[in-house]
Amino acid sequence: MTYKTLGPRPEIDVRGLHKSFGDNEVLRGIDLEIKQGEVVCVIGPSGSGKSTLLRCVNLLEEPSKGQVFVGGAELTDPDVDIDAVRRRIGMVFQQFNLFPHLTVTENLTLPQRRVLGRDKAAAAKVAAENLERVGLSEKASAYPASLSGGQQQRVAIARALAMGPAVMLFDEPTSALDPELVGDVLAVMRMLANEGMTMMVVTHEMTFAREVADRVVFMDGGVIVEDGTPDQVIGNPRHERTRHFLSRLLDPAMAEVEEETSDQVGKRD
Ligand SMILES: Nc1ncnc2c1ncn2[C@@H]1O[C@H](COP(=O)(O)OP(=O)(O)OP(=O)(O)O)[C@@H](O)[C@H]1O
Ligand SMILES: [Mg+2]
Repeated sequence: MTYKTLGPRPEIDVRGLHKSFGDNEVLRGIDLEIKQGEVVCVIGPSGSGKSTLLRCVNLLEEPSKGQVFVGGAELTDPDVDIDAVRRRIGMVFQQFNLFPHLTVTENLTLPQRRVLGRDKAAAAKVAAENLERVGLSEKASAYPASLSGGQQQRVAIARALAMGPAVMLFDEPTSALDPELVGDVLAVMRMLANEGMTMMVVTHEMTFAREVADRVVFMDGGVIVEDGTPDQVIGNPRHERTRHFLSRLLDPAMAEVEEETSDQVGKRD
């Protein structure tokens, strides 16, 4: 648990958000405020809409209904300067999406030059600073294929940080990694949280959520079922759906048995 002063205004403000793909209503009325400096972990079963929510927050998906504000600017306003708002937001995905034919430094300088118009020397300086932050200065000239998955993900984080975002969104940043590589990535995220970065993190790393998150949000079926401190939501969940999800996470073998039993009965819960 972190103890820090949160900014007075919400950095991310989601109001009455709905998102449908055809007939499939994936988000069914999401209200979520994240204050400056706050770290919010989003948990929930597969298909509950976690990624779609993150993608709506930086307008990779267009909401069907509702409003999204980032840094006070309404993304859902048709007149908004969407590129300016997007520059406030860094996003890190499960897949690192580094360019394989570029060195680590080039992966970090390219978006700075293209999107922010920085010159080569300025971009290289910011790249070096951020590689140092994630502990990978010595890999500056390496190609992504020569790095471990955990190192590649730290490069992806440094690439996002080099753009100077006010908010970082993470979508299961460690779930594609071998277990022994997860810790280094979480350590970088923990450092960012301690520095006061506003973060929205979809993750199933419960230890991280407990120790680093200010709040944990549990989603199921396109709605927020619970929203509270880690102690409340993970330690003492109020809803059966949250308890069920957490017990499956903590004991997957048991969950399989449960699943088979409920298949026989023909229904869940
Ligand atoms: N581009 C798309 N087109 C159509 N359906 C989509 C699209 N993106 C997501 N969906 C559907 O929306 C639902 C929610 O998906 P989403 O990826 O947000 O879930 P999630 O909670 O992130 O799941 P996971 O834990 O598996 O990543 C799913 O039923 C999915 O099939
Ligand atoms: Mg997802």
